[in-house]
Amino acid sequence: MRDIKITNISDKPQEVDAIPVLEYTHPRALQQYTNADWIPQTMQSKASKDGEYVILLQYPFMFRDTKLNYFTSNMPVSSFETDRKKFLGDNEYGTWADPVSLQDDELSNTEALRGDNIAALMHHLGTLASGQSRQLITLLGQGPNLDAARPVIERWRNPEEVEEALEELSAFWDSYLSTMQVNTPDSAMNAILNVHNPHQCFITRTWSRYLSYYQLGLGARGIGIRDSSQDVLAIIPAMPEDAKAFLKTLLSFQKQNGSAMHFFNPLTMEGSEGDSLEREDRPHYYSDDHLWSILGITAYLKEAGDFAFLDETVPFYDKDKQGNPLESASILEHIQRGLNFTRSDIGAHGLPLLGFADWNDTINLAKGAESLFSAHLYGRALTEFIALLEHLGKDTAGWRKAYDEMKSRVEQHAWDGEWYVMYFDHDGTPVGSHKNQFGQIHLNGQSWAVLSGFASQARARQAMDSVYKRLNTKYGIKLSTPGYNGFDPRYGGVTTYPPGAKENGGIFLHPNPWAMIAETMLGNGDRAYEYYSQINPAGKNDLIDLYESEPYVYPQNILGDEHPQFGLARNSWLSGTASWMYQTGTQWILGIRAEYDGLRVDPCIPSKWDGFKATRKYRGVTYYITVNNPKHVCKGVAHVTVNGGRAEGSLIRAERGASEVNVQITMGSS
Ligand code: NOJ
Repeated sequence: MRDIKITNISDKPQEVDAIPVLEYTHPRALQQYTNADWIPQTMQSKASKDGEYVILLQYPFMFRDTKLNYFTSNMPVSSFETDRKKFLGDNEYGTWADPVSLQDDELSNTEALRGDNIAALMHHLGTLASGQSRQLITLLGQGPNLDAARPVIERWRNPEEVEEALEELSAFWDSYLSTMQVNTPDSAMNAILNVHNPHQCFITRTWSRYLSYYQLGLGARGIGIRDSSQDVLAIIPAMPEDAKAFLKTLLSFQKQNGSAMHFFNPLTMEGSEGDSLEREDRPHYYSDDHLWSILGITAYLKEAGDFAFLDETVPFYDKDKQGNPLESASILEHIQRGLNFTRSDIGAHGLPLLGFADWNDTINLAKGAESLFSAHLYGRALTEFIALLEHLGKDTAGWRKAYDEMKSRVEQHAWDGEWYVMYFDHDGTPVGSHKNQFGQIHLNGQSWAVLSGFASQARARQAMDSVYKRLNTKYGIKLSTPGYNGFDPRYGGVTTYPPGAKENGGIFLHPNPWAMIAETMLGNGDRAYEYYSQINPAGKNDLIDLYESEPYVYPQNILGDEHPQFGLARNSWLSGTASWMYQTGTQWILGIRAEYDGLRVDPCIPSKWDGFKATRKYRGVTYYITVNNPKHVCKGVAHVTVNGGRAEGSLIRAERGASEVNVQITMGSS
């Protein structure tokens, strides 16, 4: 439904026609481009008079009796068009900017019997006096048949219904955005955290990477298990119920052995192993997919306190011949299956096998290669799971042992001297080492060594300093350096990009916030903020000729300094950067994050800040938080009051019964 308002903004009366028009694609969208025989013979349109209105009907012939497309409006129609050739005119030599048919007063009233179908409705709105407006409502829908569509059409022709629906929509956004509002000394940070970043997080939660300007057409990408398990993390505070339901959907793509499918198609709910199927000689699973949901489940429980969720059951993806699931298990069991898969799927150094890839889709080493990324993600997931079990008063000894085992293998094998390596190839050769010619240092190997808690304090600091020295640029942190300079099938996809592009030494933004989180964990708020600010799109207005991406949306990648177009951004909107930048800004820099018993307020901010304010809704209560930083430290909470009374530590216990709570934090040495 579109609510279109047309206003005469000139100072003279104007005669106005409104001709809304759209083009149909065949549901087999890719075949529209490759099969000029079958597709055009099947596409048909009809017009149905409806009093003074017209309803244009359209269908690929096989869907005529099941999925009928309809397009109509709330104004009288004098003529219509459904044939693209006729609308554009001159056998389509007319253009969309200047369709030839609009040189006539009326459209041709053609019902297309084949070919490229469109829907256009001619409305003569009459003469509008200066300043006068008209409202035109259009509706595009699909239903089993016209009779089933009629009540929907009636409803949306009514401007009051439309207004009510738009009010509901705006109430949704008010509620969604008011979950957290911040007021810091940085106006670009306020703009992005209060509106644009949470907006983008809603979009990534909804679409994953399924539809975008970069992955075109049905079947090119599904909803990614890895991607969506991370996207959901950002919307948990605002939409915990949605997150809960979505986590269950994602878990239904986990297999009985604990690993997971890579994508699913939301229209058919079929899972797929994704790009891993492209290479016969490589494993057909990813070593990280199944671990991400553990972060989502624990984050949901911290937000909602809904521990009964752990007992809910979800089927595994494996099915019998009739398509019925072979096994269902509790959420708790799903977590354990995932952790146990990684615990036993290990290579020569006792580190997780890479599978086809880890988070970095493009490093596809031979069977037997090991991934430090998946080791660290496993460490982080174990840390979260152990904290959950402790909260529930359950035994954690076995899981602690698993954590310690992996930690000691990482510490024993993966330290390269100044940073951690990223992989061991199938023959034990390190990848991401000073010994390599290309890809000597990888960002994720360092930041995740901090996030997993595997790195000792000294190594953590040194690894993150190596990131600053070797990988940071003024436009963001590169994923690795130096870029591979030539195709090399031993490494796979990464070497298909020129140096400086995407995963090959480009500024891949999604891992940038992981480096920021690592810096906040180490207490360096100045550096975390420097990293944050250098990629905040709200600060890019003056760079837009170079940057080219929207200055209110995180893109996926920026060309790195080995590329001649250093600074050019691509793949805006659908990127995991949105979720992680939102978590980083709100939970790690401002330091306001849900825990099982309450809200933690433990900021790690730039030392120059005098403080900041924030409101955060949590379990039905609004917390008004004021943070003062008189000593100009980056981190440390010296003094806390809750509703005027002195409180211990930085955990603000969840309130029951109150609707508002005032929290005053004074930073300093804790
Ligand atoms: C984009 C993919 O959607 C994501 O799953 C992957 O982690 C990154 N590329 C890095 O390869």
